[in-house]
Amino acid sequence: MTHFLDIHKTDKAVLRDILDQANSMKQARLGQSKGTPDAEQPLANKMVALIFEKPSTRTRVSFDLGVRQMGGQTMVLSGTEMQLGHGETIADTARVLSRYVDMIMIRTFDESILLELAEYSDVPVINGLTDRTHPCQIMADVMTYEEHRGSIKGKKVVWMGDGNNVCASFLHAAGQFGFDFTFSGPERLDPEAEFVGLAREQGVNVSIERDAGKAVEGADLIVADTWLSMHDDQSSRQRRHNQLRPYQVNDALMAQAKPDALFMHCLPAHRDEEVTSAVMDGPQSVIFDEAENRLHAQKAVMRHCLGV
Ligand code: CP
Ligand code: NVA
Repeated sequence: MTHFLDIHKTDKAVLRDILDQANSMKQARLGQSKGTPDAEQPLANKMVALIFEKPSTRTRVSFDLGVRQMGGQTMVLSGTEMQLGHGETIADTARVLSRYVDMIMIRTFDESILLELAEYSDVPVINGLTDRTHPCQIMADVMTYEEHRGSIKGKKVVWMGDGNNVCASFLHAAGQFGFDFTFSGPERLDPEAEFVGLAREQGVNVSIERDAGKAVEGADLIVADTWLSMHDDQSSRQRRHNQLRPYQVNDALMAQAKPDALFMHCLPAHRDEEVTSAVMDGPQSVIFDEAENRLHAQKAVMRHCLGV
């Protein structure tokens, strides 16, 4: 069974093949309407369940569109419509869904839900974000970096702000794609020690730098994300804002990075909080390319999982 659960759980060479395929599928569609089916229909006769226990714009639309372009069908399910969390075990849900669909993408809360679903599922399971990781996003981000600047190997990626789920998948990717990673944020929002340790074991040069200006010196890519994730205690908003304000990505901070540094954000962004509108809409920002590349990268991930 080929799941896509986390970037470090898929072989390096396979990750590279997935991105190569994503690029060639993107090229093959240039100039076509979004609803035009791909020339190849590798998901013909396949049914894919897309389960959302949290809100989503990009993940929902890009997976749904991607399946349709490749000739498959989707059913989009929200957590509240399902029996998940209402007494039926995740294992039984996995066994049942495996009788109806050919693949499952799930966005959920605790990582254990994803892992249990994958353990008991007879069909591939894809991680569409948990409280801990967001691998599909970072596949799109690596694809986007390389589209603009060539190989990401040996580059300096700087994460500004909260060491959250998206940051964790960047750390996983650093080990697999061979880039340096600097985290800059307040100590209590550091990425999990397990993720930092794993990256270091894989030979990644991981730095923690509390001073935002120093952190971005020599940066090739600066990445920000919301200061308050969907799984965070929403009452901590003011405290987090106070702690994270020094880590806002603005023109002054971008000016301290390399002149050709790119800016990324997985979106949704809070304009003029974690990043200014000037940076988001400025020439170094590739945020909408990232959003588009979710589609292409995930199409290749789905083909990998189904072996088609
Ligand atoms: N970046 C991302 O995953 O966006 P959505 O929450 O809109 O899916
Ligand atoms: N860190 C954010 C990412 C949203 C795509 C969250 O989990 O809410």
